[in-house]
Amino acid sequence: MSKQREIIVAGNWKQNGSLALVQEMQQGLINEAIAGVTVVVCPPSPYFASFNATQLQAFSLGAQDVSLFTGGAHTGEVSGDMLAEFGCRYVIVGHSERRNTHAETNEVVAKKTKVALSAGLTPIICFGESEQVRDDGHLFEFLKQQLEAIIVENSVESLAQCVLAYEPIWAIGTGRTATPAQAQEVHAFVRALVAGYDAQVAENVSILYGGSVKPDNAKSLFDQPDIDGGLIGGASLSLQDFVAISRAAI
Ligand code: PGA
Repeated sequence: MSKQREIIVAGNWKQNGSLALVQEMQQGLINEAIAGVTVVVCPPSPYFASFNATQLQAFSLGAQDVSLFTGGAHTGEVSGDMLAEFGCRYVIVGHSERRNTHAETNEVVAKKTKVALSAGLTPIICFGESEQVRDDGHLFEFLKQQLEAIIVENSVESLAQCVLAYEPIWAIGTGRTATPAQAQEVHAFVRALVAGYDAQVAENVSILYGGSVKPDNAKSLFDQPDIDGGLIGGASLSLQDFVAISRAAI
């Protein structure tokens, strides 16, 4: 694949994993030394300290969420500065599971993007429609609202420090992947939308696809001109599958 943009494959462990998986993944990714793609591992936050973050070169660490607050009386929350202190370079914001089960609105996701940026983290901003929205013919209008909330709160220039991740909800954890053509259609729409604000930012921003990416479908997705890697859930819990998917992006 010959794309100018940074190619990224990020593994979202969600509420899964163990110390044993930390060790296996860390050693395995170091041994594999995958070049030409930025590999990111996003485990649950208690595991950050078990990664040897200061020596990480084979991959980067990412968090799955960040608090809206910088600190203080917010029980259960983890700030951007804490994530950075423990070696995180990336943070997923706006994952549909958080939008749905933690009532994160477009405005909250836009604010979390800002918090992440001010802590020096690269937000991986998730967006995507439900099956209902797609079936009702509101796909592009829905995605536009999700993305414009980010741009209005943060400015289009700030997208140069962000990664976007299209994750159709109907494809997450279902085994039902968007076809490469379906995904490409949305990625091209997103790039054009950003280009309406700033053509250079649109050209440079990496747009990942997420939703049932597996070793056997990764290459056909990543080969699409506007797909710059993937956000991987279930398959990122297997070292072998995660390595195969990462290599498919090169
Ligand atoms: P999946 O999850 O690969 O298990 O579908 C993707 C995600 O939710 O980021």
